[in-house]
Amino acid sequence: MSPSPIRYGVIGAGVIANAMARAFTEGRGAVAVAVSDVNLEAARALSAKLGGVRVTADYRELLASPDVDAVYLATPPFLHKPMTVEALRAGKHVCCEKPFMLTQAEVREVMAAQARAPHLHVNCASSRYLSAGTAVRARQLVAAGELGRVYHVSYTQVIGAPKPGSRLPDWRNDPARNGGGISFDWGPYDLDWLAFVLGDLFRPQTVFGVMGNYFPLTPERVPPCLDVDGRHTVLIQCESGLTILWERRASEHGPARHTIEIRGTQAGLDAYFMPMPEKPGLLHHAYTGTNDLKTTVLPDAPPSWEDSMVTPIRDLTAAIRENRPTANTLEANLRIHGILDALIASARTRQAMPVTI
Ligand SMILES: NC(=O)c1ccc[n+]([C@@H]2O[C@H](COP(=O)([O-])OP(=O)(O)OC[C@H]3O[C@@H](n4cnc5c(N)ncnc54)[C@H](O)[C@@H]3O)[C@@H](O)[C@H]2O)c1
Repeated sequence: MSPSPIRYGVIGAGVIANAMARAFTEGRGAVAVAVSDVNLEAARALSAKLGGVRVTADYRELLASPDVDAVYLATPPFLHKPMTVEALRAGKHVCCEKPFMLTQAEVREVMAAQARAPHLHVNCASSRYLSAGTAVRARQLVAAGELGRVYHVSYTQVIGAPKPGSRLPDWRNDPARNGGGISFDWGPYDLDWLAFVLGDLFRPQTVFGVMGNYFPLTPERVPPCLDVDGRHTVLIQCESGLTILWERRASEHGPARHTIEIRGTQAGLDAYFMPMPEKPGLLHHAYTGTNDLKTTVLPDAPPSWEDSMVTPIRDLTAAIRENRPTANTLEANLRIHGILDALIASARTRQAMPVTI
């Protein structure tokens, strides 16, 4: 007999909650029993996708429900901390959308709340790309020392401009509600992938970074978050001596580009963390005895959009059932937000900043 499903309450019924709906209907151990949104029309529309579950405008009503085991939090970022802490106090497991929090101090508040209820699991949906065979294999190769000593990672993601006329909710262009711009919108995915793949090597010590916004904004072209920050170039130094050159640029006058180069003393890996059908998932490079560079395409499954979207709920559901850690841990979030805090401070002061853990 299969175990009872984990019963989720969904808080926030906007764009991403609708995209996540399949996680609760695909028959893999997670079901939705309630939806809450201050916009009841949005809550009802999502409820219809989920088979007509009950709706409420008051998320506290949902948190007080004994038939809710876990919550999927898909509200704007400034609500993540209060809602996560309240959910933990109400005895619910939490899958929180990215960015997990606005600051590292908020992560600490969540950690304190979780420490008072250690049986509860918390993950962040920045873990979307961690279930891919390529991420799992890269993590294994690094952990097993197959690349030798990993000393450098170059991680560059350049994304194009959104279509003219795109309109996004106001909270995206307000650092007080979104944390930042592209660094908070996409940064958590990048740093979560690095934390997962690099494992124990991902112990950031100092950050030197610049942030900026150079894309011409017009009423017809309002790219997401770009009046906050639209690009950053960051050097992260880790305890082991590993350096990570992390760059994310959005909407510039140039083509999109995605490269992740992991370099060790014995071999190197090139990876793509998001689904890119035209690219190989993982390339392994090493010089052979004859001094020729041998490049092998590893056979592991690259990320797919379908699996990526629902990965955070699948992972939390399995973690609850098996009582094992989620792929994205609170400790990883502490590091991720330590880097984001240090990046903002470094860009303001033009100084390298320590990352506090
Ligand atoms: N849109 C995307 O492509 C995307 C992708 C991945 C992650 N995310 C993340 O998901 C989160 C939500 O993003 P979105 O694009 O779905 O935003 P959205 O604005 O479309 O939806 C947010 C919803 O939260 C509701 N809400 C606000 N206050 C509430 C409250 N007190 N109680 C209940 N509901 C409340 C709003 O009414 C709205 O329906 C953000 O953290 C975002 O970074 C978004």
